[in-house]
Amino acid sequence: MSSSGEAELLHTFKGIPFTTRSSPELLESLDTFDAREDDVLLVSYPKSGTHWLAGVIRKLYNTQVTITSPIEYGDISQLEELNKLSSKRIIPTHLDYNMLPPNFKNKKCKMIYISRNPKDTAVSMFHYYRDNPNLPTVDSWTAFFDLFLKGNVVCGSWFDHFLSWEEHEDENNILFLFYEDMKKDLPNVVKEITLFLSLNVSDSDIQDICKKSSFSEMKNDTEKENSDPSHTVCALTSNRKLIFRKGAVGDWKNYFTPKQNIRFQEIFNEKMKLSKM
Ligand code: A3P
Repeated sequence: MSSSGEAELLHTFKGIPFTTRSSPELLESLDTFDAREDDVLLVSYPKSGTHWLAGVIRKLYNTQVTITSPIEYGDISQLEELNKLSSKRIIPTHLDYNMLPPNFKNKKCKMIYISRNPKDTAVSMFHYYRDNPNLPTVDSWTAFFDLFLKGNVVCGSWFDHFLSWEEHEDENNILFLFYEDMKKDLPNVVKEITLFLSLNVSDSDIQDICKKSSFSEMKNDTEKENSDPSHTVCALTSNRKLIFRKGAVGDWKNYFTPKQNIRFQEIFNEKMKLSKM
């Protein structure tokens, strides 16, 4: 990464790089955040399909719900805004499990963790670094690849993030989803989500929701500004237009050299040796 802007754009909190869009005071206050029993958390490492999942979930409710800004976004006043909301809250976050406000854990709030092949996540994040002015500039894919493997990127190591959540996979209030499963059979995953959230949605409504949540529909909605272009569920930008890039599985093959692939695989095998993935 070129150092251009890095010092001004990133800061480290508890060993994890955050952008300055997450103020240290807010991060410090998260421990005392008051969760509500009916809060639902949408959790992900950046670039795992968070907006896609949020787009689906938004369409599942016929009661009033608010998909809030990410809990780690903004300054301390943002937490007060969340507290003031009277509707049911669906709260996105890129926090790893250890940084999550304890109140969400104690109250056993429902949490949905979406994950994606880390190779595709890395490529998606590389583009985000290039296009998103809130992130430092990056010279080349090769440079970014190294940073990603070392966890020297915003939100820290993919491996640490995933493992921190996977440890809690068996808890009843946590649902694990995979981007690739959503690509393969979205209606099936949506059905799973409705069961988890105890929502009664007919099969034909599920089909309709899936159609409206396709990559092209969501991208079009954003371009035509049918959805608020300045609201995202990612603490790293408010610009929805930066989110819908390619929406594919396996794009990593267009970026990884054979040598990079071997190196990635070695590190993956080592870091994930205790994982069920
Ligand atoms: P790519 O950069 O690989 O295209 P997040 O929402 O967590 O920031 O993740 C963004 C990634 O999800 C981007 O990946 C984006 O294109 C993809 N995405 C967003 N909406 C999607 C959809 N409806 N279907 C498939 N992929 C989608």
